[in-house]
Parts: sequence; structure tokens; C-alpha cells
Amino acid sequence: SINTPVVLLLVVALSSQTCLGVKYEPNWNSVDSRPLPAWYDDAKIGMFINWGVYSVPSYYSEWFWYWWKTAKPNQGIVKFMEQYYPPTFTYADFAAEFKAEFYDPLKWVDIIEKSGVKYVVLSTKHHEGFTMYPSKYSFNWNSVDVGPKKDLIKYIYALLAGSDVHFGIYHSLFEWFNPLYLQDKANNYTTQRFVKEKGMAELYEIVDMYRPDVIWSDGDWEALSSYWNATHFLAWLYNDSPVKDSVVVNDRWGSDATCKHGGFLTCQDKFNPGKLQKRKWENAMTLDRKSWGFRRDASFDDFLSMEELIETLLKTISYGGNILINVGPTSYGTFPPIYEERFRQLGSWLKVNGEGIYATQPWVHQNDTVTPKVWYTAPKADKKAAYAFFVDWPDNNELVLGAVSGSSLSGVALVGSNKTLTWETSGSGIKVTIPPHNIKEMPCLWAWAVKLTFK
Ligand SMILES: *[C@@H]1O[C@H](CO)[C@@H](O)[C@H](O)[C@H]1NC(C)=O
Ligand SMILES: *[C@@H]1O[C@H](CO)[C@@H](O)[C@H](O)[C@H]1NC(C)=O
Ligand SMILES: *[C@@H]1O[C@H](CO)[C@@H](O)[C@H](O)[C@H]1NC(C)=O
Ligand SMILES: *[C@@H]1O[C@H](CO)[C@@H](O)[C@H](O)[C@H]1NC(C)=O
Repeated sequence: SINTPVVLLLVVALSSQTCLGVKYEPNWNSVDSRPLPAWYDDAKIGMFINWGVYSVPSYYSEWFWYWWKTAKPNQGIVKFMEQYYPPTFTYADFAAEFKAEFYDPLKWVDIIEKSGVKYVVLSTKHHEGFTMYPSKYSFNWNSVDVGPKKDLIKYIYALLAGSDVHFGIYHSLFEWFNPLYLQDKANNYTTQRFVKEKGMAELYEIVDMYRPDVIWSDGDWEALSSYWNATHFLAWLYNDSPVKDSVVVNDRWGSDATCKHGGFLTCQDKFNPGKLQKRKWENAMTLDRKSWGFRRDASFDDFLSMEELIETLLKTISYGGNILINVGPTSYGTFPPIYEERFRQLGSWLKVNGEGIYATQPWVHQNDTVTPKVWYTAPKADKKAAYAFFVDWPDNNELVLGAVSGSSLSGVALVGSNKTLTWETSGSGIKVTIPPHNIKEMPCLWAWAVKLTFK
């Protein structure tokens, strides 16, 4: 017979292998094996906030500096600078005009919470290198030393703590014009001074200061993940950091990593594969079609309408993605009203339809086989239900769902009203009679859902 100490030893050895002792190694195989914390897939919708010195010229896009000073500059930007600024004016001079004088973090958090998003990704530094917090690695090029004279990260972080909205950050690894980076690049990335003294050093600092649940890395593509030391950072993040159990990261950790390694996949901007994926993915998109940063030259047509936003959201969620919806605040610290309106309208829509969005998973079908612009989701908690969202209210108030078999169905209800709907078999699917297209009968203004209950 086995004596007690041996059994105890075995138990200790086994448990330390299975749960207590998972130690990730600094290589992609190991860090890729970490399961994504469950909150992220349930959250579905996040808000992306792109804010920086580029919000001062607020012309063209957040790539303003690059397209002004690169070898083949954008002529619109060159002319703009010639016409309105003295010839000695440099990009760094814009920072003095970044005052955030109307910045009210309480108002921001009010919009965030009312919008129904479950996480926020706030930019701490874009490719211009300006940090939105007092980084000790960004001397005189941060929001406390120059410009707003404020830490622009900490209030949002503090106000969201304890709410059901997870706090996350965006961070660019590279910087267009940083001499340390350009030196490493000139050395074909055989040296890593920039990574050690700036790019990665900031990420450790940010985790320590703001405990983000999302790290949305970017600006990685010119070099390999080994140059960025990415797997070392991620192994530390998952093993030893203060957010090791809650943090999720994206895939932009080097030209060999994007769309392959890390946490959720973002592949390219506005990624939307239109079919189910093996890995969790995210569609990072923006309400202004042409820019992530605020643009004074934007016109009304440049913004997605509510119909377009909701349709993009449905196309994303039904295929298993999360959607990250971007706002570009002004240099004076406000959300332009059109962004605020979109986010508040989104919140009103989610109040009605959120049961078919949050904590759902893809259904058997993602779209309908007969009616265009119908998307399906299924609640994780109820195996006998699904939701069919329809973007167009059918002319004759008859919604045809070719993907739903009548023989398995027990009920159909309009989400957001207490109306039970009648339905009949139609071909291999069903035909649901919905109320007349009239504002008193419709639970919301843009896209609607029926809840399907199965036997
Ligand atoms: C970097 O690589 C290029 C192309 O292979 C080569 O021409 C150049 O000499 C290399 N530079 C250094 C500093 O090694
Ligand atoms: C990469 O990370 C490891 C582990 O933290 C560290 O020992 C090493 O110095 C880092 N290399 C660079 C270039 O930052
Ligand atoms: C459903 O999606 C598939 C795959 O993307 C597409 O081929 C098909 O046309 C869509 N059906 C409808 C009715 O929109
Ligand atoms: C649905 O019914 C419940 C309970 O009867 C009621 O509290 C709720 O306000 C109704 N909702 C709508 C949208 O009519």
C-alpha cells in the first residue's frame, strides 16, 4: 500500500502542474497556449479612443506628422503648413497648443457607461511618441511636461475601476522619428536600444501604473517580434504581472506575429473575415471612415450612420468577433457631438437588444439563407434559444427566416416588447408575422431582433 506522505507529494505535484504552476515561457508556442480570460468574449463591444498631439492640427489624420515629413510628403499637408504656420514651426510646437481645457473625465465616463461598451482602449502613445501620461521614458514629450499638464490616463482608469467596463490601453511600439529607433533600424534591428530604453520599458511602466485589462499593441510591423522582445514581455505579463489573470492582448507584436500570435487577432484595421474563425478576433473600426484621430475637415458623410454602425456590429458579433468602435476626441478634450450621439444611440439600442449581443456565441448559421441582412447569435447560457437580427423591416411585415426549421421551434418573440409573434412554415424555413412598421410598435429605431425558442 502507498503511504500517506507519498500520496500527499503526488497531490501537490499534480496540482502545481495543473493550476497553480502554469508558467508561460518566452516563446510563441507557450504564450499562445494561454486561454483568453472569459470576460473578453462576453464583452463583445469596446470603445477605442485615439487622442494625441495630432488632435491639434486635426487635419488629414493621426498620421499628419509622418505625411508632412516623410520622403514623399502629402501635398495637402505641406500646403496647409505653408499657408497657416511660420516656416520655423515644428510638429513638437503643436504640443503647446494641446491644452485639453474642456477635458472632463466624468463626462467621458458618462458617455462610456451609457454607450453599453464593456471595455475601453485608451491611447497612451501613438507613433508620434507623445505619451498621454508622465512616462519616465518620454522626457519633455508627454502630457504632464508639455501641453495639457495633466495625466490623461489616470482619471479614466480610476473612474472605471469597480464598474463593469474594463479599462484598456493602446500603445505604439515604434515611433516614426525617434533617433534611438532609427538607429536600431539602420542596424537592421541587430541592436535593441530603443526596445530596452523606450518601446518595451513603457509597457512595463503602463502595466504598473494603470493595471490595464486590455493591451492593444501597434506599430510593430517593421520588425520581428524577437526585436520587440515580445514573448518575454507576454510571459511576464501572464506569469507575474498584477493583471496576469484578467489581461487580454492583441496580435500586433511583430511582423511575424500579426494575425497569428498573441491573444485575439486584429489582422488589419477594420478586420472582418465574414466567416467563422478558429481564434477569437476583433474588428477595430472607426466612426470616421477616413481617420482615427479627430479631423476638423471631416464632413457629415464621412461618418458611419447608425444603420451602418449596427450592421457592422451584427456582421462582427455573428461571426464570433468583438467590435472596437473608435472615437477621435478634440485637443480641447471633448467628444465631437456626432461621436457622442452615435455612442449614446448605441447605448439605447443595446438596452433593448443587448440580450442578443453580450455573452452570446455564433449560432449554427451566421446569416440567413433566404433574407439578406439577417444575422444570428445564440446566448451561451441558454442552449435552446437564438436571436435573429434583421436590418430591414420587411415591406409586408412578414419576416422569412430560411435558416430556421419550424419543426424544432416552440416560440418567437420580438425582443424589447412583450409581443409573442405568430409564424408558419415557409419552404424549409419559417415566415414570422411581425407588427406593422410603425414607431409605436418598434422597440428601437435601427435593427430589430426576434428571439427564437426551441423545443
Ligand atoms: C542591413 O541589411 C541590408 C540589406 O541586407 C544591407 O545592405 C546593409 O548593409 C545592412 N546594414 C547593416 C548595418 O548591417
Ligand atoms: C528582453 O526581456 C528579458 C526578460 O525580461 C530581459 O532579460 C532582456 O534584457 C530583454 N531584452 C531587451 C532588449 O529588452
Ligand atoms: C450569407 O453569407 C454567405 C457567406 O458570407 C454569403 O455567401 C451569402 O450570400 C449570405 N446570404 C445572404 C442571404 O445574405
Ligand atoms: C413587459 O412586461 C413586463 C412585465 O409584465 C413589464 O414590466 C415590461 O415593462 C414590459 N415591457 C414592455 C417593453 O412592454
